[in-house]
Amino acid sequence: MDWGMNNRLSRIIKPDTGRALILPIDHGYFMGPTRKLEDPWETVEPLLPYSDGLMLTRGILRFSISPGSDVPIVLRVSGGSSILKEDLSQETITTSIFEAVRLNASALALSIFVGAPHEHESLANLADLVNDAEEYGIPVLAVTAVGKELEKRDARYLALCCRIAAELGARFVKTYYCEGFERVVEGCPVPVLIAGGPKMDTELDALQTTYDALQEGAVGVVMGRNIWQNEHAVAMIRAVRAVIHEDMTAKEAHDLYNQLKAGE
Ligand code: R5P
Repeated sequence: MDWGMNNRLSRIIKPDTGRALILPIDHGYFMGPTRKLEDPWETVEPLLPYSDGLMLTRGILRFSISPGSDVPIVLRVSGGSSILKEDLSQETITTSIFEAVRLNASALALSIFVGAPHEHESLANLADLVNDAEEYGIPVLAVTAVGKELEKRDARYLALCCRIAAELGARFVKTYYCEGFERVVEGCPVPVLIAGGPKMDTELDALQTTYDALQEGAVGVVMGRNIWQNEHAVAMIRAVRAVIHEDMTAKEAHDLYNQLKAGE
C-alpha cells in the first residue's frame, strides 16, 4: 500500500489495536437537523478527544468544526436525496476530489444501495470515487445503505453489499450488525465497521452490540446517535472506546459508563 494511503488509514484504524471508533455526524445530509446536531460543534467538541475519525459533510465541516481540531476527517461525499422521498438511493458524488484534498480529508465516505432502484448509479459512483481517491492516496469508506428498508439487514444481503464494495475498491466498509455477522466479515477482504443505528433502549445494548461485532470480526464502529444523543455522551463514548481499544466486555464498559456518569 502506498505510504500516504497507509498513513491516512492508520490515523483512523489505529495500528496498536487494529481498531477504530468513528463518530458520524453526517445525518443531516438527508435527514435535516437531527436531535442533538442542531449545533454540531457544541455536541461534538467534548467527544473529539475520544474519536478516531469524524464523519461529516463539507458544509458542516467548514461551518461548524474548528480547523484547529486534529481529528481525522472522514468526508461524506455522496448525497442528493432527502428523507421525504420513499427511495433514498438516487445519490451522486457531491464533493470533488480537489475539495476533499483542500479540506485535508483522511478518508472519503459514499453510500451504495445494492438492490435499490438506483443500485447501478450508486455502484458507479463508488467506482468513480475510488478512481479519483486512489490517485491521491485517500481511502474510500463504502457505506452499505438500505434507505428506509431496514428489514433488508440480514447476513446474506450485507455480505453481498460488503463484497461488492470491496471488489469496486473500497478500502474499508461500514455496514450493519446482524445475526450471523461473521459471514459478512468472512466474505469481505477489507476491514468492516458497524453503524450504531437509532438510539437503542439501553446503553448496555449499544455496548453489547459493539462487543459482539468485534468478537465476530468487525474492526470498530461508526457510532453516532447512541453516543451523542446520550445525556452523558462523554461517559458513553469513553465506554464504547474501552470496548474497542481496551478489550473491555460490555458489562465492564457499562460499569465504567456508570462510574464516569456519577463523576460528572
Ligand atoms: C448513514 O450513513 C448515517 O449518515 C450515519 O453515518 C450512520 O447511520 C451512522 O450513525 P448512527 O450510529 O447514528 O446510525
